[in-house]
Amino acid sequence: MPFFSKNKGGFESSLKKRIVADDITRLRLKYDLWYQSFDRQEGNKVWLDDRELLMLSSNDYLGLAYDPRVREAARDALMEWGTSSTGSRISNGSRRYHAELEEQLAEFLGKEACHIHSAGYLSCLASASAFVGKGDVILVDRNVHSSLWDGIRLSMASIERFFHNDPEDLQNVLSYVDAHRKKMLVVEGVYSMEGHLSPLPKWVKIASEHDCFILLDDAHGFGVMGEQGRGTAHHFGVEDHIDVICGSFSKSLASTGGFIAADRSVIEYLRTYSKQTIFSAALSPSQAAAAAKALEIQRQEPEHLRRLWKNTRRYLDFLENLKLDYWQSQTPAVPILVGGKEKAYFFQKRLMEKGVYANLVLPPAVPPGKDLIRTAISASFTAEDMDRIEDAIAHAAKGR
Ligand SMILES: Cc1ncc(COP(=O)(O)O)c(C=O)c1O
Repeated sequence: MPFFSKNKGGFESSLKKRIVADDITRLRLKYDLWYQSFDRQEGNKVWLDDRELLMLSSNDYLGLAYDPRVREAARDALMEWGTSSTGSRISNGSRRYHAELEEQLAEFLGKEACHIHSAGYLSCLASASAFVGKGDVILVDRNVHSSLWDGIRLSMASIERFFHNDPEDLQNVLSYVDAHRKKMLVVEGVYSMEGHLSPLPKWVKIASEHDCFILLDDAHGFGVMGEQGRGTAHHFGVEDHIDVICGSFSKSLASTGGFIAADRSVIEYLRTYSKQTIFSAALSPSQAAAAAKALEIQRQEPEHLRRLWKNTRRYLDFLENLKLDYWQSQTPAVPILVGGKEKAYFFQKRLMEKGVYANLVLPPAVPPGKDLIRTAISASFTAEDMDRIEDAIAHAAKGR
């Protein structure tokens, strides 16, 4: 039999055997976990096997991802510029629409400059890896997103983690870090799984006392916190003290892609050295146009943000009254912890019985023991949608 045969009995490496034997992948296949593919969508409703489900796990906080004006802007850009940027920003990929969106975002965030990437993941990876290197120290909240962790590891800097949202622990960690080393503090504005708000004024104070550069990932704070949804730094009035704000277009900005906003010199440094910035193709025309239109609507129509918070307050009160564990979320990103993997799995199934879809999240996406159903509130939810959500959660909670 030739060595390249695909027939059974052909050569199979030990690595391949380990991959095939993986427990979680087997479990996933057995129970058809995750990677759910919906057949159709209209607004915040999706269809699975001809059943209509209300989407309770999208990060479309302002409800603009299906707005006709956003879809039209994306379509028009596609017709004007084509389907792809076909190259990196540093070479042939830069277009006027990139520069315009960067200027608008920088101004909105109160920063001098901005750079956009084709994914929020890339923006976070680039922010966490570009500014520090060997010999430097990164101080990081344990619960930050995977994109930041990957960037932190790529940077080759020493890593000092502190307990989630715990300024005392950060002080403690800093007490044994060499004061002469260059330091970067990495936190999120709104934590994506927990929905916790970061105590930014405390981080700013500690950072100024210990000469730390601050990187803030505000993927879930942008569009949600602060006046006009300018983000968590604006909410606390500390935007001038945050060196770099990165984020994503896949939440409030109804698109895909990501941004990094900072002083011009910091952005130009990133453009010179960041591998993710130099060696990856620029954001496509339709995605940039969708984000630009969503930003314009976000600025001009405050009713979306108001409705988001009205829905969020109603939902958090409802979960509190039902005595469900929502990890004390303070924002529209709301986990429901139901105590174990199987319970979470059946909670998700029971939500679907009542026409609601929400994500099942298990380790390694969350720490062991924190299996959860990750829900997210949107401005697009009507009072009837909220009724349906509450009915479904009450039903799922009974079966716990
Ligand atoms: C906190 C945080 N940062 C970064 C990202 C990456 O953004 P994107 O999914 O748009 O690439 C996410 C997305 O899940 C996130 O939650």
